[in-house]
Amino acid sequence: MSENKKTALITGASSGLGLEFAKFFAQDGHSLVLVARRVDRLESIAADLRIRFGIQVETLGADLEQAGISQKVFEFCKSKNLQIEFLVNNAGFGYVNEFLQEDIALDRGMMMLNVVTLVEMSKVFAEPMVKRKSGRILNIGSTAGFQPGPFMATYYASKAFVNSFSEALSHELRKSGVTVTLSCPGPTRTEFGARSGADKKPLFKMGASSAEDVAREAYQAMMKGERRVIHGMQNRIAAISAGMTPNFILLKIVEKLQGL
Ligand SMILES: NC(=O)c1ccc[n+]([C@@H]2O[C@H](COP(=O)([O-])OP(=O)(O)OC[C@H]3O[C@@H](n4cnc5c(N)ncnc54)[C@H](OP(=O)(O)O)[C@@H]3O)[C@@H](O)[C@H]2O)c1
Repeated sequence: MSENKKTALITGASSGLGLEFAKFFAQDGHSLVLVARRVDRLESIAADLRIRFGIQVETLGADLEQAGISQKVFEFCKSKNLQIEFLVNNAGFGYVNEFLQEDIALDRGMMMLNVVTLVEMSKVFAEPMVKRKSGRILNIGSTAGFQPGPFMATYYASKAFVNSFSEALSHELRKSGVTVTLSCPGPTRTEFGARSGADKKPLFKMGASSAEDVAREAYQAMMKGERRVIHGMQNRIAAISAGMTPNFILLKIVEKLQGL
């Protein structure tokens, strides 16, 4: 199979970074499986990419917060006879609020989507990749994962998990022919800001990156098999500083940048 005739599966492809990833894969001639809940959006993105790039695009409407959903996504690909060479675990969400003000169902759904499904997808899709010694996984973590985040406590913790898990898996699989790349965006202009409420906070107002720029950098890092990419100089400095600053100080800084 030529490098240009492979298939990428992208979760959360109906907006933001996921949509930008879809465009980069399409430009390079890869087939696509686009997954999210808003099927109407996926269908119109798919129609556009089929016309512009002449590629095969399948869409799957799925709520990735559901237990066991990864196996269903895998079965869907199998039913279409598609071998997934690129897996982009991108779907995710967060909220800004006091932890006790939100229903636990929101936190549970977030942990299912941001953490459990990402792990399960990595397992079901990495197994055949390792068998054939070929494949690339891109996990979208966050600079939020480098410190605890009061008023986004569950989200920051979920991204700390993604960051840690992805780098560990990258190391474990380093001789398998399968690469795992962790992308850590900082504030980025997508629907995430409005959905979470983070766009009204000083951290976002200090400057957010374009989704296209972040996705391009992550896409290129994945294609090179890099272990980790932190997007933008400001975010790289913040990540290094977080590693050298005690948590009692970091907690106060995040509260100021992100808090209520
Ligand atoms: N934007 C930022 O500032 C920023 C910074 C760091 C990291 N990130 C991470 O980047 C990733 C992409 O987010 P984004 O910024 O591009 O935000 P976005 O525009 O809100 O996109 C999120 C995507 O996830 C999908 N999604 C949400 N819940 C889902 C569910 N239950 N089942 C299936 N799909 C679901 C959404 O589609 P449907 O609603 O159609 O299902 C959408 O396609 C996330 O993991 C986010 O945590 C974002």
